[in-house]
Amino acid sequence: MANSVVSITVGQSGEHVATGREHWSSRMAFVLAAAGSAVGLGNVWKFPYIVGENGGGAFVIVYLACIALIGLPIMMAEVLIGRRGGMSPIGSVRTLAVRAGRSLNWQALGWICVTGAFLILSFYSVVAGWAIIYVVQGLSGVFTSAAQSGDAAGALKTLFAEILGDAGILIAAHTVFMAATIAIVSQGIEAGLERAVRIMMPGLLVLLAILVAYSALTTGRFTEAAAFLFAPDFSALSAEAVLVALGHAFFTLSLGMGVMMAYGSYLPRHVSIARASITVSVLDTVVALLAGLAIFPIVFAHSLETAAGPGLVFLTLPVAFGEMQGGNLIGTLFFLFLAVAALTSSISVLEPAVEYLQERFGGRRSVLTLICGGAIWLVGIASALSFNAWSEIKLFGKNLFDLLDYLTANIMAPLSGLLVALFAGWVMSKTAVMDELGMGNSVGYRLWRFVIRYIAPVGVAVVFVYNLL
Ligand code: TRP
Repeated sequence: MANSVVSITVGQSGEHVATGREHWSSRMAFVLAAAGSAVGLGNVWKFPYIVGENGGGAFVIVYLACIALIGLPIMMAEVLIGRRGGMSPIGSVRTLAVRAGRSLNWQALGWICVTGAFLILSFYSVVAGWAIIYVVQGLSGVFTSAAQSGDAAGALKTLFAEILGDAGILIAAHTVFMAATIAIVSQGIEAGLERAVRIMMPGLLVLLAILVAYSALTTGRFTEAAAFLFAPDFSALSAEAVLVALGHAFFTLSLGMGVMMAYGSYLPRHVSIARASITVSVLDTVVALLAGLAIFPIVFAHSLETAAGPGLVFLTLPVAFGEMQGGNLIGTLFFLFLAVAALTSSISVLEPAVEYLQERFGGRRSVLTLICGGAIWLVGIASALSFNAWSEIKLFGKNLFDLLDYLTANIMAPLSGLLVALFAGWVMSKTAVMDELGMGNSVGYRLWRFVIRYIAPVGVAVVFVYNLL
């Protein structure tokens, strides 16, 4: 039996569990997969623009503190719950709650995770589709031709608006992206996810290195960008920025959606959860900073707006790509990078739901993945339509896309993070937790326990309440 921990299960969901689970083949495989999940649109699309909007270096320091002090401990808690439970997020939380003699209502945590992941993927795939569309556009030379039109910014703005207005194109790109996600996940852990990240993660790092080198060598603004990212000006920091930093730390580490629980459930017992989680957090942070170092020199060299908001990579950067030497190639590579980064994240977001279906109903993974991915694809179509045909349909003043984004990132993720901290800190038995972490009663362990019981719940609760208001 691959995993003896799962022998204590409850109710009907237990029946398929005992049939030998897959595992990551090594610590490295888990690290690559989890880092692949963490590195995504959040690092390349979102991080640079929120740094820009929140004043640069001081914000980066607060963000790093949030990653280290709250994000990392919660990631460890998620991985720990997943490996200890040895099941899907729903099954794991339920099994562990039963073992600790606590209420079965804790299952709600697992359900928030799995539904949240389902919903996130539906619109994440639409944004990833934009990146795919820009790869195709880049190949046909759109960046340079926009620049030649005289009004590059105007032309690219029109292009983006046209893309968003074209339901057919959005749905086609969303379909391609979901098909790729489903194809990988349906192959299972080792032959699917692990093999995919082994190919894609090194590719991603090479692409990123090319982009940073290009920025550094050709724009002449590298030091300016580095100063913007690393020289703190605390007068530029607002209280709200601290909350933004914590929220983003959560999103970028893929926390709150059961992803790390699901990935943890395939983690071999001998791997240290703390060390693996630290590696993943460091990799994610390095990629975010490198993405900033690739993007900001271009922004400064072309006198673009640092605080350009969500449009930064889709509207602003393409202007620069059009003006620079070899910009079509660099632009195309950039969006390819974005699409690949999104794919190593999307497979992780599909996994929790597939894992749950597998343990609940059994059957072939390929069929279950197709059913689940197909359902997500359908919901995603509604997101794609919310930019055009259905743009008038609004709830609470938001279209469906914005609503799903808000609901998952600002409500479900923090709520789940809060519950994860409480579950690992107060519900699970201390011996189970210590055994799983394998850190003994070291300073590191005691620090983690203090954070997970007190600091993390309070910090996340503050963000949660703030986001609601
Ligand atoms: N971390 C990914 C990014 O930065 C996005 C992501 C993947 C995610 N899985 C997640 C966010 C789960 C929240 C929850 O783009």
